[in-house]
Amino acid sequence: MDNSSTHSDCMADQDPADRFAIFGNPLSQSLSPLMHNAAFAQMGIAARYGACQTDNAAEAVRQFRRMGLRGASITLPFKESIIPFLDEMDESAETIGAVNTIVNRDGRLMGYNTDGIGLTDDLREWLEIRGKTFVILGAGGAARAAVYALLQAGGTPVVVNRTLQKAEALAGRFGCRRVPVAEIGELRADCLINTTPVGMFPEVDRTPLPRQVAACFPYVMDMIYNPIRTRLLREAEAAGCAVRSGVGMFVRQGAEQFRLWTGMEPPIERMMNVVMERLLKNGGD
Ligand code: ATR
Repeated sequence: MDNSSTHSDCMADQDPADRFAIFGNPLSQSLSPLMHNAAFAQMGIAARYGACQTDNAAEAVRQFRRMGLRGASITLPFKESIIPFLDEMDESAETIGAVNTIVNRDGRLMGYNTDGIGLTDDLREWLEIRGKTFVILGAGGAARAAVYALLQAGGTPVVVNRTLQKAEALAGRFGCRRVPVAEIGELRADCLINTTPVGMFPEVDRTPLPRQVAACFPYVMDMIYNPIRTRLLREAEAAGCAVRSGVGMFVRQGAEQFRLWTGMEPPIERMMNVVMERLLKNGGD
């Protein structure tokens, strides 16, 4: 498989299996091929999932159609720019304004977003969402998915972001509060969720918040899953907070993709195990 294909197809045409792929740039760190291929194998499905690095969203859709894929994952930086090339959007993807999943329904390309449901499916394992207040750090696509899904699940999101205008736009879109970064330490909330990339591999020494601020929240979650324990989580844990990495959310968003593509119940345990094994092997903790 050619991981860095830009002008040719990234999966062999002669492959008889149902084909799926992830489109993004860069893709060298992506664990989606590992996770989905393990899920297909576990369920006895003759399918293959490849990695197609492309220059832009138009190229991604062109390759999708040419290869006759049944479905795809869409990752950074194409989650928004892919939208004009799709035939139809699911309501959640439309509201969030970002697509991370494509399903090929008889040649019509349908856009979905499973990031939000991935988050709330994972959070439910950890705490009751309904009635809780969540500080959402960041105001990009990941934050929009979080705000959407938390509202759906009966939670109360409060947006905090470096750029105030972006926080205002997100809060206005969903009718929730936003608070300036300087006031985050005065907030009373149950859970903090970091949606920014600050602290992600390879910049593992960075943190989006000073340790004394993170310590204000009983629960602290990071959407980052590489490393498994970010500096934010290490400091929050040392201060006595309950912490959760982004691994579970990553697996759950993938599980929801699997459900959309196959109509089958995803083998979540198997998906979780292969992802954790790889992250630990890479020295992810
Ligand atoms: P995604 O789709 O993954 O959410 P994004 O749309 O680029 O990615 O959004 C990233 C978010 O992380 C933004 O809200 C960004 O803040 P700004 O709106 O101020 O740009 C936030 N972010 C990125 N780097 C940051 C940093 N060093 N400190 C604080 N926030 C940061």
